[in-house]
Amino acid sequence: MKWWFGFLLMLKYVSAEPTPIVLWHGMGDTCCLAYSLGLFKLFLEKQIPGVYVVSLKIGNSTVEDLENGYFMHPNKQVEYVCETLAQDPNLQNGFNGIGFSQGSQFLRAVVQRCGHKLGPIKNLITLGGQHQGVYGLPHCFALQHETCDYVRKLLNYAAYYSWVQNSLVQATYWHDPLDEKKYAKNSEFLADINNELQINQTYIDNLIKLEHFVMVKFESDSIVQPRETEWFGFYAPGQAKDLITLQQSAIYKKDRLGLKKMDEAGKLVFLSQPGDHLRFSEDWFIDTIIKPYLL
Ligand SMILES: *[C@@H]1O[C@H](CO)[C@@H](O)[C@H](O)[C@H]1NC(C)=O
Ligand SMILES: *[C@@H]1O[C@H](CO)[C@@H](O)[C@H](O)[C@H]1NC(C)=O
Repeated sequence: MKWWFGFLLMLKYVSAEPTPIVLWHGMGDTCCLAYSLGLFKLFLEKQIPGVYVVSLKIGNSTVEDLENGYFMHPNKQVEYVCETLAQDPNLQNGFNGIGFSQGSQFLRAVVQRCGHKLGPIKNLITLGGQHQGVYGLPHCFALQHETCDYVRKLLNYAAYYSWVQNSLVQATYWHDPLDEKKYAKNSEFLADINNELQINQTYIDNLIKLEHFVMVKFESDSIVQPRETEWFGFYAPGQAKDLITLQQSAIYKKDRLGLKKMDEAGKLVFLSQPGDHLRFSEDWFIDTIIKPYLL
C-alpha cells in the first residue's frame, strides 16, 4: 500500500509540468539577444525548472525581428503568431503570456483573435503596454533623434492615413483623444481590438476566458504617453490633459470588451512599479508575478 502511494505521489509530481510561457518583446527589442529577452528567458528557466518558454521571433532572423517591430503591420504579426503558436506541440495544453511594451497589446490581440484556436491561455501579463494607444512620443522609444522628430511629426499629422497605418507599426496604436471618431474609424489595429467601431463577440469571449489579466504600469515611464494607457486608461475624450481610468471610460462602462465583467470577477490585476519603462527587479518579478501567476 505504502509503496503504491509513494509511487502515485511521485507520478503526480513528475507529471505536474509547469505551464509554458510565451513572451512578446517590445519595439526596438528582439526575441533572443543576450542583453534582451534572451536573458529574460534564461531567468524564467532558472526560476521555474523545466518550464518551456517561447520568446516570439517575428521573421526569419533577429534582424528581421527587430525591423518588423517597426514596419510589419500588427495585424500580420498577430496572424503570424497565431499560426506559430497553434503549430507548437508544447503549447497544446495551454500557456501563460507575457507582453513587453507594444508586445502587450499585440499579445492581447492574439488572445482575442485566435484564443479559441489555441490551448487555454491562463494568465496574460502585460508590462508597460499601450492598451489605449499612445498620444505623443516623449522619448520616442529607441529611435535616433532626427528620425524621432520625423516620426513624431508624421504621427501628429498623418497617423490615420492608410499608407502610414500600413508602413509604421506605431501609427496603428496612435490614439488622438481630440478626434475619437477619426481614431475609431481609421486606426487599423488598436481601435479594432478594442471594439471601438464594432463589437466582435469573439474578442470578448476569448478575453474573458483568461484567469487573470495583469497590467503593470511604470510610474516614472518616460517613453509611454500617457502612462495611464498601461492600465487601460487614457485621456478623457476631446482633450489631452485630464486622464481617466479604465473604470471611468466608455469601453468599460458599456462593457464593449468584457473588461467590466472581468473586473467584477476579480480577473483584472493592476500593479505598478516606481521606475522608468520596463524597469523592475528580479526579486519583484519573482514575488509579484512568478509566484502568484506562473507557478
Ligand atoms: C520567412 O522566410 C520565408 C521564405 O523566404 C518567407 O516566405 C516568410 O514570409 C518569412 N517570414 C516572415 C515572418 O518574414
Ligand atoms: C471577429 O473576430 C474573429 C476572430 O479574429 C474573426 O474571425 C471575425 O471575422 C471577426 N468578425 C468581424 C465581424 O470582424
